[in-house]
Amino acid sequence: MVNPKLQDAINSQIQAEFYSAYLYLSMSAYCESQNFTGFAHWLKLQYQEETEHALKLIGYLQERGGTVELKKIDAPPAEFGSPLQVFEQTLAHEQHVTSLIHQLYETAAAEKDYAAQIFLQWFITEQVEEEASATAVVERLRIIGDKSPGSILYIDKELGKRV
Ligand SMILES: [Fe+2]
Ligand SMILES: [Fe+2]
Repeated sequence: MVNPKLQDAINSQIQAEFYSAYLYLSMSAYCESQNFTGFAHWLKLQYQEETEHALKLIGYLQERGGTVELKKIDAPPAEFGSPLQVFEQTLAHEQHVTSLIHQLYETAAAEKDYAAQIFLQWFITEQVEEEASATAVVERLRIIGDKSPGSILYIDKELGKRV
């Protein structure tokens, strides 16, 4: 049995993961429209990863005999500015998600749900990786600034190699 308080919190996290997926898909479409096909590719993979996170949470609730309640997903923005601004927003969003995951873990700890704590450790580790990869792109784009289109295109090409 899953604790009702934790079940609510996990259902909210499923919504947050789907919103993340939606946000990155919108960013991907935006980058594609700006002819940054590498950034678009990177963000589309990010969209897939976020969908997998939501499915992982759904699978966990089902395994514990819980009830999955899908909530409404807000529309993400459609415009994001320069490539640097896109990735700054990605990083800020990941930092926000990290705080949500930490809150979820705190709920699991407060409710003494040990299995949930172990399950959520995967997400805590994943967030470290997510923040690190977004930070790496932000820092590279900050180094070159907005004055070097050639360098931005080089990074775009590099990110297009993500598998
Ligand atoms: Fe996620
Ligand atoms: Fe993420």
